[in-house]
Parts: sequence; C-alpha cells; structure tokens
Amino acid sequence: MNLHNILKKHEFKKDKLIEILIDVQHEKPYNNITEKEVESIAKALELPVSHVCGVMSFYTLLSLEKRGKYIIQVCKDVPCFINDEFNILKTLEQTLNIQCGETTDDHFFTLEESACLGHCDEAPVMRINDTMYTNLTKTKVFRILEQYKEGTLC
Ligand code: FES
Repeated sequence: MNLHNILKKHEFKKDKLIEILIDVQHEKPYNNITEKEVESIAKALELPVSHVCGVMSFYTLLSLEKRGKYIIQVCKDVPCFINDEFNILKTLEQTLNIQCGETTDDHFFTLEESACLGHCDEAPVMRINDTMYTNLTKTKVFRILEQYKEGTLC
C-alpha cells in the first residue's frame, strides 16, 4: 500500500498519526520511515514536521534508521529484569552475533531494548514486530529464533 492509500485508510486524521506511521513502516523492507516520508505525512495531515519527528522519537517501535525485517525488543524494566535468569539480551547478542541496537548483516533481525511491554505478570518477555513472547526460557528463545529463520513464524 502506498503512502497516499495509507493516509486515505486513516482518513487523513491527525489523531491517527501513530497508526499511519506504523503502517508506513510495515510497508518498508527495512522497517523504517524516511525523512521524506515524515515530511509528506506532516504536510498531508497539516502538522508541523517537528511534531511528527517528536512522535517518531518517543515510540521505540518507529525508526528513521534502516533496520531488520524483524525487530526484537527485549523488555529491560524491573519485573522482566528480576525474572531474567539467563540474560535474554546477552543470549540474543551472542546467538545473532550483534550488539543491542544493531542489525544482522542479512537485515533479518534488529535487536533492541525496550521499556515495559505491558506483560509484567508473564516476565520475562520480548516482542518481535507485533508479536509478544512471554515466560521466556533460553530454550524458548532459541526455538523462536529458529522458527523465524525457517519462516514458520512471521
Ligand atoms: S516489565 Fe517487562 S513487560 Fe512490564
């Protein structure tokens, strides 16, 4: 869906800015929004570019930088941190051979930290794009990564 159709889907409503940005990003191969798109969205919604940039920088789900097809966000807030017995982030860094904030060479995974993802009672958790994975164990993390690589999860 192109930008105009996404704006049309949300009826060019200013209060749908976040949904519009998410939809635009989902259409992109590198899970990002360009500066040109930010300017076009601001113009179409009659909002200051600075407002759209502010929203972009507030939501960790949104990015101007090119990222992987799958964004892995590991919750590092207190309940998840306390229940994280095997260090999910370090396990993912070692398995994917990247540091937090980086993208794999094949642009398949980007690894990020996140504030509370709203599933504290099922800690520790991580989110991959729109899907939440809870009560994580090391075995479960490995299995999830394999399923993404095999294409059985997406
Ligand atoms: S602290 Fe991790 S989901 Fe809330």
